Amino acid sequence: MFPAELRIRNLSIRPATLLAPMAGVTDTIFRRVIRSLGGCGLIMTEFASAEGVTRSAAKTLRYLYFDQDEHPIAAQLFGANPEVMATAAALVEDLGFDQIDINLGCPAKKVVKCGGSGLLKDLRQLEQVLGAVRVAAKIPMTIKMRSGWDEANIVAVEVARMAEGIGVEAVAVHPRTRTQAYSGQADWSIIARVKQAVKIPVIGNGDIRVPQDAERMIAETGCDAVMIGRTAATNPWIFRQMGQYFATGHYDEPNETDRYRLLSGYFRSLVAADLPDAIGKMKQFACWFTHGVRNGGELRHEVHSARIPSEVLERVDSFFTRVADAYGA
Ligand SMILES: Cc1cc2nc3c(=O)[nH]c(=O)nc-3n(C[C@H](O)[C@H](O)[C@H](O)COP(=O)(O)O)c2cc1C
Repeated sequence: MFPAELRIRNLSIRPATLLAPMAGVTDTIFRRVIRSLGGCGLIMTEFASAEGVTRSAAKTLRYLYFDQDEHPIAAQLFGANPEVMATAAALVEDLGFDQIDINLGCPAKKVVKCGGSGLLKDLRQLEQVLGAVRVAAKIPMTIKMRSGWDEANIVAVEVARMAEGIGVEAVAVHPRTRTQAYSGQADWSIIARVKQAVKIPVIGNGDIRVPQDAERMIAETGCDAVMIGRTAATNPWIFRQMGQYFATGHYDEPNETDRYRLLSGYFRSLVAADLPDAIGKMKQFACWFTHGVRNGGELRHEVHSARIPSEVLERVDSFFTRVADAYGA
């Protein structure tokens, strides 16, 4: 049975499904696409630097922008300085987020020096960071971690126990090490070990591609909820498909019209928001999203050679018109 709800103190997450934070992807526009399709219980911002937040750096604050229809929503912070993290956590609470999450997973070189998975190498520092955030923020607090720095240092169980002791209220586990980055397969047995070690809810993450994977993760690990990242970028319908699958045993695939509506709607919102990196996002998303589309390679090529956002939109429109004409879709 897939859990209908994940409760983190007074926060009700229904169903027990979460959109994973993804830098460069899960901005307010993408998150609202996911919300509009249904089936996702909680969405999260891309990670934001606590240093940037406390300096009120415009770019960092943009990462923390959200719309009222995004609730419930969590903000994710990274940083290694307990005081700075505490100040940033208080700001996140003031902004009206429902939950605060601490990033203990980012493998990027410039991040591990000042937080992310780098904190998995220094558990004393980590304890101070979590303790400071816990004191500063009254809203539900969670962590999202990798399994450890490398194969010789798998610390997920230790970190989960420590976090629970400090008052962290749920823990998400992406069971790859920092050294692994995104290679190989996520080792779900580590999620199971964390689940057995703590009483707070455990959120499993890693390599869910179809609804059946989510069902298997819950069965194999006993985790309380699932979190999905990359699949949501290539198939934003995944959460809705999960809801349908758990209710009926089968799920629908989006057709060409669904794909066109989603892609052009998302791109139009990007253009309307006038983001400085709109064209980059359009190209990136077109690349991920068109793998299931007939003649997707052609569309990717057309989008990649566009120079301005409106040109991308025109090419998407004309591509799908051609597809519709050719196949009578
Ligand atoms: C492009 C990209 C950006 C990511 N950015 C973040 C981030 O900001 N914070 C974080 O905790 N994890 C980040 N992750 C990791 C994902 O949240 C997730 O843990 C990982 O992709 C494994 O889940 P998946 O197999 O469902 O994708 C990122 C992953 C990708 C692919």
